[in-house]
Order: sequence, then C-alpha cells, then structure tokens
Amino acid sequence: MKTIRIGIIGGGLMGREMASAFARWCALTDVTVRPVLTAVADLNPATLAWFDAIPSCTQKTTDYHQLLANPEVDVVYVAVPHNLHEKLYCDVLAAGKDLFAEKPFGIDLASARRILDAVRKSGRFVRCSSEMPFFPGAQRAFELARAGSFGRVLEVVSGFHHSSDLDPTKAANWKRLNALCGEGGVLNDLGMHACHIPLRLGWRPSRLFAQLQKGYPQRPDGKGGLTNCDTWDNAMVHSWIRVGDHDVPMRLEMKRLAPGATNSWFIEILGTDGGVRYSTADTKALWLFERGKEQFWKRTDLGFGTPFKTVTGGIFEPGFADVIQQMWAAYLMEREGQLNGRFGCATPEEALATHEIFAAALQSQANGSVVSL
Ligand SMILES: NC(=O)c1ccc[n+]([C@@H]2O[C@H](COP(=O)([O-])OP(=O)(O)OC[C@H]3O[C@@H](n4cnc5c(N)ncnc54)[C@H](O)[C@@H]3O)[C@@H](O)[C@H]2O)c1
Repeated sequence: MKTIRIGIIGGGLMGREMASAFARWCALTDVTVRPVLTAVADLNPATLAWFDAIPSCTQKTTDYHQLLANPEVDVVYVAVPHNLHEKLYCDVLAAGKDLFAEKPFGIDLASARRILDAVRKSGRFVRCSSEMPFFPGAQRAFELARAGSFGRVLEVVSGFHHSSDLDPTKAANWKRLNALCGEGGVLNDLGMHACHIPLRLGWRPSRLFAQLQKGYPQRPDGKGGLTNCDTWDNAMVHSWIRVGDHDVPMRLEMKRLAPGATNSWFIEILGTDGGVRYSTADTKALWLFERGKEQFWKRTDLGFGTPFKTVTGGIFEPGFADVIQQMWAAYLMEREGQLNGRFGCATPEEALATHEIFAAALQSQANGSVVSL
C-alpha cells in the first residue's frame, strides 16, 4: 500500500476520531493507500499528549505553522472552531498541502466563497468531511434515488437530530456562541449532514422557508459562572427542489433539541412507485415502499455493506467509527484517482451550496418570508 502522511490540526473530538480510524486501517481490504499520522497541532498541550499513544505521530506542536512547514506531511485534516476555518484552510493550501477539512467550510457564505476561491487557485485536492452518507442504509437510499427507482418523487425529508442541548446544566462550548460557531448556529453545525445526499442528487432548493429556534439563553461556563448562548439550536427548512419534471417539497431538519435523539441522521424519499426510509437510530433497518395491487413497507436488516470492503463479517452492524473510516478511504482513493464509481466525499462546491441554503434560511427567518436561491 502507498503511504499517505497525514497532519491533523485540531486534536479535539473529531481530530481524535480521525486518528483512531487510521489506527485500525488494517480492517480495510480493497484500498491501495494507507494513512499514517505523522503530525498534530493543537493549542492545548493536554490534547497533544493523547497523541503520545500513536508512535508514528512524531511532531506535536501548539503552532500549526510548524506542522505546515513539515515536509513529512502530505495531507492536512483540519477540525477547529468555525471562526478559524477560512484562515487555517487557506494557510494549508498556501503551504502546498492537500486538504480534508470539517464542515461547514467557513463561518458564513462570504467565508465559504473565499475558501472555494482559494481552493480553485491552489489546484490542491480538497474535500469536506461528511461521514453519514457512508452508512450502508444511506448508500442504498442514494443508489435507489439516483437510479430513479421511486417513480415520480413526491417528497423528501433529510435531517440530523440530537438532544444534548436539552440538558440546561451542560456547559456551553464554542458551538453555542455565534462568534465562534457562526450566525447559522445549528445550520453550520448539522446542515451539511442533512444536505449532502440531496445535493449529490442535484436536489438544490430553488425556494425555501425556514423556522429557526433558540435554546437556553444562558449555560454554565464550566468555571462556576454562566455564559450567554446566542446560537440557533433547531432549524426546519421547508424547500422546493426540482426532480425530473416536477417541483417537489423537501424538508431539511437540523436539531440540537430533539427529545431523546442521539446523533440520528435520517432520510426519507417517497415516490409514486416506491420509497425509502433510513435512520441511524435503527442502524440496520432499511425500509422500502412497494406499490403493487397492495402497498407494502418492507423492512430488511442490512449488514456491513460499506462502499469499501473490510474484514468485518458481512452480517455485523456498522457504527460511527466505521463510516468515519469509510469516508477517509473515499478521500484517499479519490485523491489517487481510484474511487471507481464509489460515493465520494463532499466537494468544496457542495459545501458552498450548503452555505447558500443556510444564508437563505437566515434571511427567511429574519423576514418571515420565502426566499429564492
Ligand atoms: N463530521 C462530524 O460528524 C463532526 C462532528 C463534530 C464536529 N465536527 C466539526 O469539526 C470541527 C471541530 O469540531 P470538534 O467537535 O472536533 O471541536 P473541539 O472543540 O472538540 O476541537 C477543536 C480543537 O481545535 C483546537 N484548536 C483551536 N484553535 C486552534 C488553533 N489555532 N490551532 C490548533 N488547534 C486549535 C482546540 O484546542 C480543540 O482541541 C468543526 O468544524 C465541527 O463543525 C464535525
């Protein structure tokens, strides 16, 4: 296998998730590349110490510029708060490295436009992290929709729910502050998850109406006091998309206040002849609608039908860590020109398209109006 040397900037929640995916790369059986973590940069020395467990990671620095100057780094993955995306992504490109970076790819639409501009000028291979479509159920929904299996599409629902903001005692972090998360709040946080498959199918809203809600205005600051939280926590975006010759309603749901939900990604596509429902809340269950003399919703238990084959038994169930690894396989294999028709990671253009949706949703909320894109 060809070795690709990776540097991580931001070793928090996602930085460590990615490092763990590299550590069990031997699970993959049909890839020609192998990521090796060589460097990590994070402001927090305690976070850097976690990477002591990875022997290949020889550079640990609090200054990301040192990582960018390291010739032993081919690809840089960046997972930092949204207010830093534009600066860091552009610095990575200016250093002549390929980039895999977290959504939402800039704190707002203007920032996303400048990032896309820098990506195009750089000529580097760049993709945006979005792992949920790599679940086997999501792949099946995508392939069925792409093949036009549902007859005339009647409606689409795509979303991501969790409920961790329901707990008022949970300390605030940067994701609850507009200055760091962006004015889009939950749209910036969860929007790419809801938009990735629709956008890949060419289902871009032409008009939308948004309902946004805030959560608790104050939370513990983790130091004994309280801090103000000003981000939108829930977003419902009611839109029109064009599928074939028809205008079709599509609802995008992004919620951090969804009672009982923990990281539930879901999609539902209903048509005149068929339909599909899939949610990671019931990871294995794929529901398919069939219209015949009678109408049926059929359920099947999916196994480990991931795009990139693994040693994992075919009937075993996949999880978050698996789809993160699948997403990396897609990034690295596409970089080698070996995706071979498999599902590719979100593109910078798709990331920009999500920001166009978020900006329209904010405008809709502010004016109580339907906004054309
Ligand atoms: N794909 C997903 O499922 C998913 C899930 C969660 C978060 N995210 C995205 O990942 C990104 C990071 O989120 P997170 O949850 O990992 O955040 P986090 O707060 O857990 O980690 C961010 C890390 O960045 C570090 N950092 C901040 N400024 C830095 C700088 N100048 N140089 C180096 N390191 C710096 C912090 O010390 C921290 O360790 C965001 O864009 C977020 O939207 C994606």
